Order: sequence, then structure tokens, then C-alpha cells
Amino acid sequence: MKTIYDLVEFTKVVAVFCNQWGDTGKGKIVDLLAEWADIIARGTGGNNAGHTMVINGKKYIFHLIPSGILRDSMGKINIIGNGVAFNPAVVQEEIRILLSEDMTVNNLMIALNAHLVLPQHLVMDRVRESNLGDNKIGTTGKGIGPLYTDHYTRVGLTVNDMLNKDVFVRKLRRNLVDKIRLLSFADPEMVKLVMQHHELKNGDYYHPRKIFDIDSIVETYAKYGEYFKPMIRDADAYIRKHLGSKNILLEGAQGLHLSIDYGIHPGVTSSDSSVEGLAKGVGLKERDIDLALGIVKFPYMTRVGEGVFPTEFGGKESSVWCRDSNQKRESEELSSAGVNDKNEFRRGVAIRQVGQEFGATTGRLRRTGRLDLPLLRFALQISGPNAVLTKADIMDECDKIEICTHYIYQGPDYQYGNYTVKKGEKILVAPQDTNILKNCKAVYEMFPGWKCSISDARTMNDLPQELKDIIEYVEKTVGMETKIVSIGPDRGETIIV
Ligand code: IMP
Repeated sequence: MKTIYDLVEFTKVVAVFCNQWGDTGKGKIVDLLAEWADIIARGTGGNNAGHTMVINGKKYIFHLIPSGILRDSMGKINIIGNGVAFNPAVVQEEIRILLSEDMTVNNLMIALNAHLVLPQHLVMDRVRESNLGDNKIGTTGKGIGPLYTDHYTRVGLTVNDMLNKDVFVRKLRRNLVDKIRLLSFADPEMVKLVMQHHELKNGDYYHPRKIFDIDSIVETYAKYGEYFKPMIRDADAYIRKHLGSKNILLEGAQGLHLSIDYGIHPGVTSSDSSVEGLAKGVGLKERDIDLALGIVKFPYMTRVGEGVFPTEFGGKESSVWCRDSNQKRESEELSSAGVNDKNEFRRGVAIRQVGQEFGATTGRLRRTGRLDLPLLRFALQISGPNAVLTKADIMDECDKIEICTHYIYQGPDYQYGNYTVKKGEKILVAPQDTNILKNCKAVYEMFPGWKCSISDARTMNDLPQELKDIIEYVEKTVGMETKIVSIGPDRGETIIV
């Protein structure tokens, strides 16, 4: 039986990221590899991401501190990298929880050039979404889009600015100009209401005339600056210095199809959640990575929020239900749904229940669907072939497994560069274009289910033939190379291939 150490032999930098829409069980794989790593670093996203950590038998959802923090007392360094949207209130709370559980936080490093989340980012995110009506992206409301917008329009603030009050005030004033102007056109009562939210200090940042109380923001962030000062460092330089000598683990956030650069717009987040973005977000280059492990939930998929999902169980019915309903209502009204139900919407509901597919950050219902090979082909082109397959055990009871092999385009003629996509056309690799994908019909290959529990398997040979056949089929069809199969939440429920 192979261990994780066999997998990482001769490697110095390993990256773990998601090749789908996030929520693929990255936390467990990062946790396994954190044992090997000396440095664990996050490079993308913000507290829109969430991972569950179990401390003293209690479950906590953490959003920003890397999962390696549970090994802080062993001297492991955890880094919040330059590409992360750093929300000081959230990290302070995460540290408070860790300390209250008698954990140590002595080796947490925050990149001085990480982007700083400010109250106006949360306000703009929420006001903008509420103005979008039917075109909502379904953001997490954590200010991520407005924060990275500021970065690209060159009016953002960094973590280091918290340490220099004059610079902070000057940059803050400049940053607020366009936001105040825009918000002055919004319904003042709605803006006030948004600003009463507890994540916005219950209205502390609100000013009845100027919208933002600059003094309150400056005072609060100066305190954060004092608090975080010992942790703020040139983390890029630190990582580069230890490249080749220490074991470095890069922890991704979100997933490839949510990447601002490789995802399907507009249903994406605002950072580059690809392996490239991850490397850059910690001060490295993609070529510095020795082993890039892309996680693939297998053989089903999920997505949270709005956006195309060609293989969704129940299509529109499901997306509307997941948008408008919640976990409580679903368990009251649809508890009888089964994974082998004739109705595909109900099958999707049942898989959500079995897989506990509810958003870690927002509690929303995750939409469920079949594994989509056109999307996977695209993902592997960007990320390379190595795959970690997760959550196959969720499908233990399914009579049949449907895998989407390709799409048939069903929309009107559509110009895609110098090429015209026509009705009836077969599509093997998903183009990153919503106008094409929303008109694609998924075509499925049917496989028999394995109909038994797989969580005791420890080698590939222990897996039922039906599952091995599906894995082999996908590997051959899309050029994927399986490195790990995760078959349950516990550390032991893992097969290293
Ligand atoms: P934002 O990142 O909050 O701006 O949200 C943009 C889109 O990305 C929405 O559809 C979110 O549901 C989705 N999203 C953001 N973070 C995550 C994540 O960690 N897992 C899954 N989806 C996410």
C-alpha cells in the first residue's frame, strides 16, 4: 500500500487545486500533504472560500487561514499569500477560535502585498448584486469582485498600508471617491440597511451624509495593523528563498471553472483560481511546481451560485430550486428523493443530501450534476493531467452512473472567432463561452453502478470493477492520470495510486 510520501518523493513544491467549480474536498488532501510540508501557502481567493477543520472534536469552517495551521506547534509555516483577498476581521476571528481551542498561532505569515478587503468592497458587492435582478452572479457577498477591481484599476490598498497611517488615509480617500459617487445613485435606505450587517460592524462604518465614516474605518484598520504587525512579512521573498530546500505546499481556493482567466464568464470569481494563479499568488512561477494535483469530484459534479451547468440533474428546475430554497426547506419537502429516482431533479436532490453538498461559506444548496468530460478536457489542458478523485463513495447506492462524453450544440448560428458554430454540431472540449454552453445538450454514456460501500478499499485493486472501469474510461477518454482516490472523509479513506 502506497503512502502520500511515495507520491511526493523527489518533489519540493506540490500544488493542490480544484479542476471543477470548487467544493471538491480539497481540505482533506491538503491536510494529508501538510504532514509532509514545511510551508503551507494560500495564493488566491478570500473568505468566499471555506474549508472545514475539526479541532478537539468540534467542526469549524475556516475561510482564510491555510489548513496547515493545525500543525503550527510543529513549527510549520502557514502563509496567506499576495494573491489573497485579506479580510482582517475574518482572520482575527479565526485566530481567536484557534487560541480558544488551545492551538498555537506562532508561525502565521501574511504577505505584505496581499490585497486588503475594506468595508466598501462588501457594500459594493451586495448593492451591485441586488441591482442585477435576473442577471445576478450569486456572489458570496464578501467583497471579492470589488476588491480585485480596485487592484486592477490601481486604487486598491494592501496589507502593508495598515502599518502606515498617512498612506492608508490618503489611499482610502482616493479609493472611496468613485464608490461614494456610485452609491449616491442607489436607494439610501438600501445602502443603510446593507451597512447594518454584522460583517460591516453593525453600521459602525456608516455615515448618514458621506455614506462611509472614514474616521471609523481608519481607526479600526489601524488597530488591525497593530494586531497583525508581527505576522506581516515579505512572504514572496521568504518562499523564494526556501525554494528547493523546504517542502512547500500550495493550497488552492475555488476551482478552475471559476477562474477569472479560465472560467466561464460571468459566473466566475474575480481571482485566477487556476494552478498558475495559485503559484503567482504566493510569489512563485508555475514552473516551480513539481507536482500539480487537480481535484475532480468523481463521478459527479457540483456548482454554487448562478451560471451554466450543462449536466445539472434537473436543469433549470434544479438551478431555480437551489437559488430560491434552503437546506431546511429541502429536507422538509423532498426528504423522500432517492439516488435512483426516475425523476432526475429528485436524483440530484438525493445526491446533494448524501454528499452533504451545502455551501461552506453561504450555506446555499449546491447544484448537482453528472461528470462533464468536455469541461474536464478543457481543465486538463490548463492544469495538466494529474487528478485526485474525491467523493466517489457518495455514489455507492446508484444503479447507474451517467458520464457526459460530449455536447450537441442546439442554438442558432454563433460566430466563435473565425468559426461558425452550427446546430447539431458535436462539441468535445467545452469552450469558455456562455452563449455556446447554454445552448448545449449533454450526451451521456451509461455505466452500471457498483452498489456497495467502497470506504474500506485501500488499494485500487480493492475497488469494485464497475468503478475501476469508469475511472479507466475517463482516463483514456480525456488523458487524465489518477494519483489519489479519496473514498471517505477520514484520512485513512484514501488510496494512493
Ligand atoms: P464571489 O467569489 O463571491 O465573487 O462569487 C462569484 C461566484 O463564485 C459565485 O457563483 C460563487 O458562488 C462562486 N464561488 C466563490 N467562492 C466559491 C467557493 O469557494 N466554492 C464554490 N463556489 C464559489
